[in-house]
Amino acid sequence: MPLLEGSVGVEDLVLLEPLVEESLLKNLQLRYENKEIYTYIGNVVISVNPYQQLPIYGPEFIAKYQDYTFYELKPHIYALANVAYQSLRDRDRDQCILITGESGSGKTEASKLVMSYVAAVCGKGEQVNSVKEQLLQSNPVLEAFGNAKTIRNNNSSRFGKYMDIEFDFKGSPLGGVITNYLLEKSRLVKQLKGERNFHIFYQLLAGADEQLLKALKLERDTTGYAYLNHEVSRVDGMDDASSFRAVQSAMAVIGFSEEEIRQVLEVTSMVLKLGNVLVADEFQASGIPASGIRDGRGVREIGEMVGLNSEEVERALCSRTMETAKEKVVTALNVMQAQYARDALAKNIYSRLFDWIVNRINESIKVGIGEKKKVMGVLDIYGFEILEDNSFEQFVINYCNEKLQQVFIEMTLKEEQEEYKREGIPWTKVDYFDNGIICKLIEHNQRGILAMLDEECLRPGVVSDSTFLAKLNQLFSKHGHYESKVTQNAQRQYDHTMGLSCFRICHYAGKVTYNVTSFIDKNNDLLFRDLLQAMWKAQHPLLRSLFPEGNPKQASLKRPPTAGAQFKSSVAILMKNLYSKSPNYIRCIKPNEHQQRGQFSSDLVATQARYLGLLENVRVRRAGYAHRQGYGPFLERYRLLSRSTWPHWNGGDREGVEKVLGELSMSSGELAFGKTKIFIRSPKTLFYLEEQRRLRLQQLATLIQKIYRGWRCRTHYQLMRKSQILISSWFRGNMARKNYRKYFRSEAALTLADFIYKSMVQKFLLGLKNNLPSTNVLDKTWPAAPYKCLSTANQELQQLFYQWKCKRFRDQLSPKQVEILREKLCASELFKGKKASYPQSVPIPFCGDYIGLQGNPKLQKLKGGEEGPVLMAEAVKKVNRGNGKTSSRILLLTKGHVILTDTKKSQAKIVIGLDNVAGVSVTSLKDGLFSLHLSEMSSVGSKGDFLLVSEHVIELLTKMYRAVLDATQRQLTVTVTEKFSVRFKENSVAVKVVQGPAGGDNSKLRYKKKGSHCLEVTVQ
Ligand SMILES: Nc1ncnc2c1ncn2[C@@H]1O[C@H](COP(=O)(O)OP(=O)(O)OP(=O)(O)O)[C@@H](O)[C@H]1O
Ligand SMILES: [Mg+2]
Repeated sequence: MPLLEGSVGVEDLVLLEPLVEESLLKNLQLRYENKEIYTYIGNVVISVNPYQQLPIYGPEFIAKYQDYTFYELKPHIYALANVAYQSLRDRDRDQCILITGESGSGKTEASKLVMSYVAAVCGKGEQVNSVKEQLLQSNPVLEAFGNAKTIRNNNSSRFGKYMDIEFDFKGSPLGGVITNYLLEKSRLVKQLKGERNFHIFYQLLAGADEQLLKALKLERDTTGYAYLNHEVSRVDGMDDASSFRAVQSAMAVIGFSEEEIRQVLEVTSMVLKLGNVLVADEFQASGIPASGIRDGRGVREIGEMVGLNSEEVERALCSRTMETAKEKVVTALNVMQAQYARDALAKNIYSRLFDWIVNRINESIKVGIGEKKKVMGVLDIYGFEILEDNSFEQFVINYCNEKLQQVFIEMTLKEEQEEYKREGIPWTKVDYFDNGIICKLIEHNQRGILAMLDEECLRPGVVSDSTFLAKLNQLFSKHGHYESKVTQNAQRQYDHTMGLSCFRICHYAGKVTYNVTSFIDKNNDLLFRDLLQAMWKAQHPLLRSLFPEGNPKQASLKRPPTAGAQFKSSVAILMKNLYSKSPNYIRCIKPNEHQQRGQFSSDLVATQARYLGLLENVRVRRAGYAHRQGYGPFLERYRLLSRSTWPHWNGGDREGVEKVLGELSMSSGELAFGKTKIFIRSPKTLFYLEEQRRLRLQQLATLIQKIYRGWRCRTHYQLMRKSQILISSWFRGNMARKNYRKYFRSEAALTLADFIYKSMVQKFLLGLKNNLPSTNVLDKTWPAAPYKCLSTANQELQQLFYQWKCKRFRDQLSPKQVEILREKLCASELFKGKKASYPQSVPIPFCGDYIGLQGNPKLQKLKGGEEGPVLMAEAVKKVNRGNGKTSSRILLLTKGHVILTDTKKSQAKIVIGLDNVAGVSVTSLKDGLFSLHLSEMSSVGSKGDFLLVSEHVIELLTKMYRAVLDATQRQLTVTVTEKFSVRFKENSVAVKVVQGPAGGDNSKLRYKKKGSHCLEVTVQ
């Protein structure tokens, strides 16, 4: 019954009916033929190698598997990687992914799929991407140096690899650690028919450019190298040259410097060239066989490349120094021994180089100390091997597989069943083969095969592989999983497949016959000290660093641990590591021996299915429970599904779990309540629970959001409301205060003040109206302002009143009066403040005629033919400029002339045109003296200026000024001065007026001649 509609066969073998080997194989075959290479047993993925590229990988599929749970899509490695990654990220559980299977079953490919999936789904960012790149790029480098073509797999991993990928709490990769196990270094010097040496040699020869080849002293042709199998140099579908470039760039990405890459290639080519070093027979003088290098060129080239003395290399290869406490003995090696030494050196250099590369990668990808990390381990280790001729390598490889099978048994079969028992769950025991006995046979500290081997290696005396075998025969003669010719003979069995130098172990995966030849050697894994020291002397920094024990100062007499012991302890560490993590299994199956697509060999698959324990796995799985968890953590995770347990639960954990699951009404067969744990039978139920939890979390998130948003809106609203109330209360208060202000006392004061002020003003104005001063323009009296505040207004009013009075006065004047006043105004402009007699003249009207001109026709005649009225007629005194005597004259001023005449004569004596009058000079005193200055051109000019005395000098000069202005539009110059000069014929007389002693009316003048040109006038 398929899990999903349209699936081929059953996708999960747990659902297989009937559950027998045949139906299991049929199901796998049916699916394989339909290109469904993945099948589940619960959460274990079975992967059958398709030997073809299927369109089920890449970003599109990664995205799909990322979004669905385990059983929702077709079985896939991505689904397993997703579960592991999510469990690591979300539940904080370290994971390990155990990939097991035979050589060529697809383990390495599976591990790469897991890594690429994790790289695609975990965090992003520049830093994270570079870590991912480094982790991913470690694959091509390790594959180049550690993988080779074998008859079973063109890209067979010849080393075991366990990689811890480390993540931060967010699930972003931080870095990692790679552990490598036992490189198959025997391959370096010899390959089986149809196999190749490690890829790097072919890649280097095919991919390096001429320059690099020359620098490394290499030739492109692979047949020129003794360590490279000449039959197969190329592998179908593999491009060595482009792989070489990929390796170089991968090394650069990881962080190898150019110098480091060059040094790695130099050591690699040195190993290759070492194979071409030929040793030939030589004999010592004593006749004892020795050896020597036949063609020194190779050694020389090596010496040049790594900075070694070629003679020293030769000596180290062909002789051996034995040191005792007293002396050093050098023995020559025969050809066999020298060849052995050479190969041992090559193997040693290469395996140390490989370890160095792994360490160098680790250095680049290592995570800083102190960073909290979660770990996902990916184990891709060589599969179980049954070859025709199995040696020490197969022995340890198979031992490792036994241990892994044990992990599987412990963690899935044994532990699970024991747990049911512990927890008191009803359980019918499922039988399975527990390989603990085989593990014990190999690894027991005192009585295990590895311990025996170590014992033989360390034992003094004659030691050989056969003494080792004899020891095993003796110790395990009765062991159910051990056989050899000796034990068979003892039981009278005849078996032609068993060699004399062989022993056989019944592994969980089948019987394997091991040939003990070179077990001791390989376990010892010793390099002669001469070679170690020779290598340490190299100038080449990398080569030198590979042999620290070659340093004579550091040489210790303590033996290094044997290869077997080392392997055992590293396997023990690995096991400890795996047990501390949640395991995820990918069990790889090889469908045929020919690396052919579409071929499904039932026998081959059946063997693998048997030793992988698939059937038992299904049985346990079917009878058992997919998931279990302590009541505490389970309740913590799912208590939100029930209202009784969420948000508070006060009861016990188990009761809580019962409550939660009871409310979800699960079928009773699905659940079992253990003593400390709850068991859930099918993953579907668990997924259902997870789905419910996810939905509930969404609900809760929505609830939290709802409450938060409500709270936020409510507080905002409340704040707004409070503010609004505050604002409106202030506004209303303000309005009310404004409306009622008039009723307030403070306002009353203003009104009162205003009222009082107004009444004051009113009273003032009314008082003023009733008591206005007289309208006489000369009356300047004006009542004082009753209050200081009204003084400005009072002044204004006074001003206004005065102006009004003047206007009224002016309006009632007749034109004649106006004319008189104009004259007065003119007089004022001319004399006010200048002449002392001016103030007296002001109140006296200008009458013009002081001689009775109107009634005196005789005087009228003086006017002559002159038109117009006489402006001024007065009797004046003319002062003689020569002697200061005066004589009377009548002066007439008409519109055009000044006429001077003798009082006795009726004829005009002198007529001066007004245009000839240049100016007049008067004194500032009260006297009437004035000088009439004539212009020089005048006809009367020859007589000079006139010095006259008038009793109405103000009026006369005013009228003269106006007449000159009217007649000539010229302003007459009126000079007020006490000193002036009067022209007199050609001379001039300086007149000086002085004030006499006070008294009198100030109008009497006394003239006193002072010299011929000076006349002093004293006003008395
Ligand atoms: N999922 C797959 N899709 C396509 N080809 C595959 C897949 N898995 C494996 N192969 C093919 O099978 C070959 C062998 O696979 P792989 O190298 O992973 O085997 P292995 O189990 O690691 O063997 P070994 O133990 O020798 O290292 C690959 O080179 C590849 O051609
Ligand atoms: Mg592999």
